[in-house]
Amino acid sequence: MVFGRPARGRFALASLAGGAALGSGTGLLATSAWLISRAAQHPPILFLTVAIVGVRTFGLARGVARYAERLLSHSGAFGVLRELRIAVWQRLERIAPAGLPAYRSGDLLARLVADVDAQQDLFLRVLVPSAVAALVYAGALALLAWLLPPAALVLLAGLLTTTVAVPWLAGRTGRRAERRVAPARGALSTAVVDLLRSMPDLIGCGAADRRLVRVAALDRELIRAESSSAGAAGLSAGLATLAGGLTVCGALVAGVAGVRAGVLDGVALAVVVLTPLATHEAAGALPQVAQQAERVRRSADRVVDVLDRPAPVREPTAPELLPGPPYTLRVHRLRAAWPGASAPALDGVDLELRPGRRVAVVGPSGSGKSTLVAVLLRFLDPTGGRVTLNGTDVTALAGDDVRRVVKLCAQDAHLFDTTIGENVLLARRSATPEEMDAALAAARLLDWVRALPDGLATRVGEHGSRISGGQRQRIALSRALLADPPVLLLDEPAEHLDTATGDTLTADLLAATAGRTTLLVTHRLAMLGAVDEVVVLDGGRVVQRGTHAHLSAVPGPYRRMWDIECWADRGPEGADLAG
Ligand SMILES: Nc1ncnc2c1ncn2[C@@H]1O[C@H](COP(=O)(O)OP(=O)(O)OP(=O)(O)O)[C@@H](O)[C@H]1O
Ligand SMILES: [Mg+2]
Repeated sequence: MVFGRPARGRFALASLAGGAALGSGTGLLATSAWLISRAAQHPPILFLTVAIVGVRTFGLARGVARYAERLLSHSGAFGVLRELRIAVWQRLERIAPAGLPAYRSGDLLARLVADVDAQQDLFLRVLVPSAVAALVYAGALALLAWLLPPAALVLLAGLLTTTVAVPWLAGRTGRRAERRVAPARGALSTAVVDLLRSMPDLIGCGAADRRLVRVAALDRELIRAESSSAGAAGLSAGLATLAGGLTVCGALVAGVAGVRAGVLDGVALAVVVLTPLATHEAAGALPQVAQQAERVRRSADRVVDVLDRPAPVREPTAPELLPGPPYTLRVHRLRAAWPGASAPALDGVDLELRPGRRVAVVGPSGSGKSTLVAVLLRFLDPTGGRVTLNGTDVTALAGDDVRRVVKLCAQDAHLFDTTIGENVLLARRSATPEEMDAALAAARLLDWVRALPDGLATRVGEHGSRISGGQRQRIALSRALLADPPVLLLDEPAEHLDTATGDTLTADLLAATAGRTTLLVTHRLAMLGAVDEVVVLDGGRVVQRGTHAHLSAVPGPYRRMWDIECWADRGPEGADLAG
């Protein structure tokens, strides 16, 4: 994996340290075995000193080397995780918001957290243990081959059993379960996030129990997959222990035969028997390597799927310099389509936002108003035509640079679960209290905030659940005003509000944006007398444009929408008056 490359040195050192730890363990057993056997012959103490020092050295080295191995391998693995998580996040930033609907939020969360976390096992449970085991086995095999070749053969047979036969057997039972674990985790996480988010609605319409049953079923599915996988892991661990025990017995038989035949010194018998026992510690992790590798691969596929997803917006490789203010935003014969959509959402749209001008975009639902906003914010690339900022094509500018000039107050602006003050300050952390008050006053929030017992420190709750829809939109508006962008986009700021509240909010925001370059997307026409131009969209095309006074006076789509609005507001006389 490319992300592991910078930490290669640390993993190599960790493998050496792990090898040294297990080697010391083996050495400890082997020298103690020799020491006990030799001591039983009551030799002068001088003959034993070297072995005594050896036992002490191996005993100490084992702990130190094990510590170094853990430290190095974990520091490497966590470094890799950090890089990987940043890469996934940056990719998500690139594909958001147009590309994100390809995933469900819970599943995305599982990919970003659990599937990325799973990658640490590639290093901690697959690569490093394999390298350590290879080192230790090589050492032990060399030692036994020197002392008694048949014992080396027995150890080799044990090694093949634990690294080939047992994983193969465990893999047969565990692979299918392993394949199910990561997707099952994603499905459960999606269902839980959905459930929590829609809980009030579900309880309200009495559908919560059915959803809970579904979540419980997904939970059982994950538990089934996890327990089959744990079962396979248990089976392989048991079989590996059995194989280890048999290897020791085999070495004992070979050793006794060697002593009888006179090719092995009686004192060395203990070394021949105990070396495989110590070596077995290194083999303990091996049967699970295959299973872990499978699990890591499944999670890696899900992470790579995010990393490889094409971005809906192509960033220029060498972005042009952002032109200086004042800014004129021009849209020329713009065509745009959402990924996967058969028809374009915008087709041949022209628009000019000169400094200080305010343009309103109206039209029925689905006519492409928010799509236009997405293109202006560089969330979506045009498929035809051009959008220019002071004459520079925006596709030649870095997306972040464009968004420094063009900012949005969205249809359903997100409020974070923190205080009112924090939510507004998000736009510009360096704002002074006076600027903050001015932004709140322009959004007609200042009196309300001052009357609150906690003032700006009042918490808004998750998604602003503790305040009203109108207050939520006004907080979003004051945030946009505080950001003070050269070009402000407002996408249906009065959406979800009752007509009276919506109209007051629109009137307030029109007052607050006087003289500021603004594009207002709305489906309420009542206040549009204040803007310089109204553009009527239908099916992604401009069907009418002009001032409110002109458009409401001549027959056409705008006049029809205006009549309907007046009728809805004031009844038949209202419509007559408007006509
Ligand atoms: N993120 C998206 N992915 C795919 N298609 C989209 C996306 N957003 C909008 N569309 C499609 O593009 C078309 C225009 O939608 P858009 O959201 O621009 O309409 P709108 O005028 O803003 O409508 P509304 O008044 O309901 O907000 C619709 O057909 C819609 O289904
Ligand atoms: Mg919209």
